[in-house]
Amino acid sequence: MANSPSGDSMTDRLVRILETFTPTRTVQTAAEIARRAGLPDSTAHRIVGELVATGLLERDDDRRVRVGMRLWELATRSSRALRLRQVALPYMERVQARVREHTQLAIREQDEALFLERLSDPASGANVTRIAGRLPLHASSSGLVLLAHAETDVQERVLSAPLRAMSPHTLVDPATLRRKLAEVRRLGHAAAPGYIESVSTGVAVPIRERTGEVVAALSVVLPRDAPIEQPLAELRRAAVDIEVALDPPPIERVSVPAERR
Ligand code: PHB
Repeated sequence: MANSPSGDSMTDRLVRILETFTPTRTVQTAAEIARRAGLPDSTAHRIVGELVATGLLERDDDRRVRVGMRLWELATRSSRALRLRQVALPYMERVQARVREHTQLAIREQDEALFLERLSDPASGANVTRIAGRLPLHASSSGLVLLAHAETDVQERVLSAPLRAMSPHTLVDPATLRRKLAEVRRLGHAAAPGYIESVSTGVAVPIRERTGEVVAALSVVLPRDAPIEQPLAELRRAAVDIEVALDPPPIERVSVPAERR
């Protein structure tokens, strides 16, 4: 791929442009994209124009740019996230119907929790999670589950980086976080009272592949002082059902005697 004078490839520039879109910044002018991507105006305009021509980006009547449906289609079609989400969805709906609070599914991606799905009742309380949005591993219940079961090098990397306080209750001391991760492994769930925002408590359980590897976390976001026992029981039940649905046991073959065939 052709490199620019600064040495970054066309792919680098493309990714930088796409990364300027966030869950809260979905529409931008080409000039804003150029500035946020750190690219010369002319380069950004040219690449944005090419992306609009292919449908990966779309322009509205005011010539402002947003992510195109074609990009969503291509990205979603064959992503491993799609299967996980599709398999999990009916069981997430059951949790949501019974607990009547936010129910969400996350995977670990580049040292953060990436949310694949969120179901919410209109009456549910506060929640900062967005679908295709991210939360820090150390500060969210899903993130704690994913981090507690991550490879040692991932844990050490996260523990040695500055741990940002999202609220006064976030665990920002590495030794305390280490103890919390051990607790998450021992109890089989993570509770994060007020870690993200003081008014809510996240509760999450792991979803495992047959190998035992944790591939996702299923969580609910409750009002801060709500009891966690019933939501936790629903989460555990859903996790078992999702694990079976992800990897159903082989159908037992009943051998029929020859004379009855
Ligand atoms: C959590 O998973 O701990 C969590 C997520 C979103 C919130 C609050 C808590 O708004």
